[in-house]
Amino acid sequence: MAQPTIARPETETFVRNVWYIAALRSEVGESLLGRTILGISVVLYRTRAGKVAALRNRCPHRGYPLTEGKLGDDDVIACGYHGFRFGPDGTCLSVPGQDKIPGRSDVRSFPVTENGPFVWIWMGDPELADPAGIPAETGFADPDFRFVSGNVVIDANHELIADNVLDLSHESFIHATKIGTREVAETPITSSSSESRWLVQASRIMRDVECPPTYRERTGLRSPIDREQHINFFVPSLYVLDTMVVAAESRHDPADGPRRAYHGKVIYGLTPLSERQTHYFFAIGRDYAQDDPEMDASVQEGQLCLIDEDAYAVGVLQNLMDTEGPEFEVSIRLDTAALIARRMLARRLRAEAKG
Ligand code: FES
Ligand SMILES: [Fe+2]
Repeated sequence: MAQPTIARPETETFVRNVWYIAALRSEVGESLLGRTILGISVVLYRTRAGKVAALRNRCPHRGYPLTEGKLGDDDVIACGYHGFRFGPDGTCLSVPGQDKIPGRSDVRSFPVTENGPFVWIWMGDPELADPAGIPAETGFADPDFRFVSGNVVIDANHELIADNVLDLSHESFIHATKIGTREVAETPITSSSSESRWLVQASRIMRDVECPPTYRERTGLRSPIDREQHINFFVPSLYVLDTMVVAAESRHDPADGPRRAYHGKVIYGLTPLSERQTHYFFAIGRDYAQDDPEMDASVQEGQLCLIDEDAYAVGVLQNLMDTEGPEFEVSIRLDTAALIARRMLARRLRAEAKG
């Protein structure tokens, strides 16, 4: 089927009324962390009471970044250029050389919350920021899962990355030496969606298939295995993949007792830095080898390798988009979830523009 290229919204580039992952919790301490989110420079820090503050990283006086200033013991930032002082809620507390603080001297502050290994930020209407809106599907509250997390910046638009993670048939080619086997691309997916949650779902169930190298190493399983992938993608930014691998039923002897299934969770937060760069946050969960620091290190390293492979592919596409513009695309059935997500993103942008 022929489909248009990636939808470009007529109105706004980014959804704003949604929780985006802004940082790893471990990145935010009692020093000033600058981060650009949706093209806006933000400064994040933790107050002495342990609360995260997020402020626009531009002083209202002459626009100097607050990250160039000093954070005092009283949680107050003093601008490094001429000394305007701001509290953690953005209120301007004093200006040099006069008692009266001019109007409009406060800095914008953004709602933030902590959930799982991440600090989340709300770049839209603060009245709508409800931390309960972060989907529970991440599994961060589930004690059965141990997570390792990290983040990188990828030189590609977030929609290219959403395309990548929603069509896992690329595993058979891009990740052929790690998690891809030919059966991934050969197995059809089922997909569905929920407009009220801005959610796209896709599942792939594989029976009697080859065990890829990474799963062999981590679980000790040998081919054939039964393997499942279940995606929940909350448009535009939160991706949750549940994976399951287990010795194939076909070769299982019931006398050996129940089969041990290995469950994994792959959480990605795609937070646009700009139109052509994206913060790629990840948290990888597992319900096995819980107290194994070597496994933690191996999962972390393995994930960074996978992301490198994906980053290369989407980077190539971004470069072509930059130089040649969008190209006409032919889509197939395996693209269904990605196409639903593209359309949903366009609807969400329109809905937000209408208020
Ligand atoms: S730019 Fe910050 S005080 Fe002048
Ligand atoms: Fe990938």
